[in-house]
Amino acid sequence: DGPGWSYVDGVLHCDGMSLEDLRMSLRKDYGHQGSPAHVYSHSALVANVRKYTDALCPLGERGTLSYSLKANSNLRVLETLRQAGVTMATTVSGNEILMAMKAGFAASNIIYNGTGKRRWEVELAVKHGVLLNLDSEFDARLIAGVAREVGVRARCLVRLNPALNADTHPYLATALADSKFGVEFHQLEKVLQAVRAGESGNEEHVAVEGVHIHVGSAVSRTRVYADMTRAAARTLREIRERGWPRASTINLGGGLNIRLSGVPRKDGEDQERPATPENLVDAILPILPQDTTLLLEPGRSLVATAGVLMTEVLGVKTNGDRRFLVVDSAMTEVIRPALYGAHHPVTHVTVPSSQERAAMDVVGPVCESGDFLARRCMLSPNPPSGAALVVWATGAYCSSMASNYNLRPHAVEVIVRAPDLYTIVRRPENFEDLVSCYL
Ligand code: LLP
Repeated sequence: DGPGWSYVDGVLHCDGMSLEDLRMSLRKDYGHQGSPAHVYSHSALVANVRKYTDALCPLGERGTLSYSLKANSNLRVLETLRQAGVTMATTVSGNEILMAMKAGFAASNIIYNGTGKRRWEVELAVKHGVLLNLDSEFDARLIAGVAREVGVRARCLVRLNPALNADTHPYLATALADSKFGVEFHQLEKVLQAVRAGESGNEEHVAVEGVHIHVGSAVSRTRVYADMTRAAARTLREIRERGWPRASTINLGGGLNIRLSGVPRKDGEDQERPATPENLVDAILPILPQDTTLLLEPGRSLVATAGVLMTEVLGVKTNGDRRFLVVDSAMTEVIRPALYGAHHPVTHVTVPSSQERAAMDVVGPVCESGDFLARRCMLSPNPPSGAALVVWATGAYCSSMASNYNLRPHAVEVIVRAPDLYTIVRRPENFEDLVSCYL
């Protein structure tokens, strides 16, 4: 259990509220659509922000925390993070920019990142003074062109591909030599020339304010961040020499993995202890040049452990030597095990009185063999149908990666704040919602 989560008398509680009580209440409001449910702990969200703001404290004004919306873009989760002390928001689409603004982030505190930006998205960003990450030569031309047309100077960071190995799942590494993201150091000159293209006289359409690097996600060791800081400092010097002497921002992306206490890995060994935000800043600080400001833009480490997915048992069956626990949630709600082989522990909401446990595959109703939430999970061998389970650490990249496959509605989402205080922050779609887009 992390902050916000605890078993009291054998029942899982979130910020003091029994999840069994929460379940009854949701069922009353939404019938069978009250499950599965994404449940977020308000205190865990706040505690996760605090770890970063405390870690950045030694930097004072020179350190800023930006939240990467893609991890969880629920409007009320965004508001909670902002109120807890997150000052900026990192986005990857026009709609994420609009959502960040709706959550109260000032446009000048929004970063828009992307390998493939569409014109309307660039126009939206430039008009509102959003900071854009410039990803390639064609991206530089597009941004400079739009800035010229709308008559607003675009603020940019150059995203560098430093060819560093973040030591993570291949799908989660973003800065290998052959990754699609960012520009290589040797391309910098050309990209900066493209930024200048179309300028006449003293008119500057693009202000290059600094450099951005994100090496990947679910990174457990901070050593790579020291190398990133060096690469960023070198790039910044180059940018200054090539005509933007005041460039001073170093954005080192997100990427920190989360700690799940006491969770054995598949091979039976304890999970290595991933670095904390404090470790991260410790790795960066000694190398960060004095005349620069640091931006960090985590997603997962701010929200993952603040959420669980609550689901109900539909039945138990055996095929071959496998025992399957069939539940009402599926890869549509939690795609990470199928997509990355990610491990999300599953436990009972109410601990069964019998100590007996069996290895079970927790699977859902979706018609895919890849539809599993956990494999070989030690659970009570015969839980009654209707019994509740939770899938842990689903606050990041679960709701935001959900799909309507098999015409399944999105799971209801709830933020719990106190024993008798919770807010429904997303309703499930009903059939009319799902059918309304068909013309
Ligand atoms: N900054 C940039 C430029 C990014 O591309 C990302 C994530 C982040 C920050 C935030 O990274 P985080 O702190 O969350 O690791 N769907 C995958 C994760 C993809 C991450 C993509 N980029 C998953 O479920 O693990």
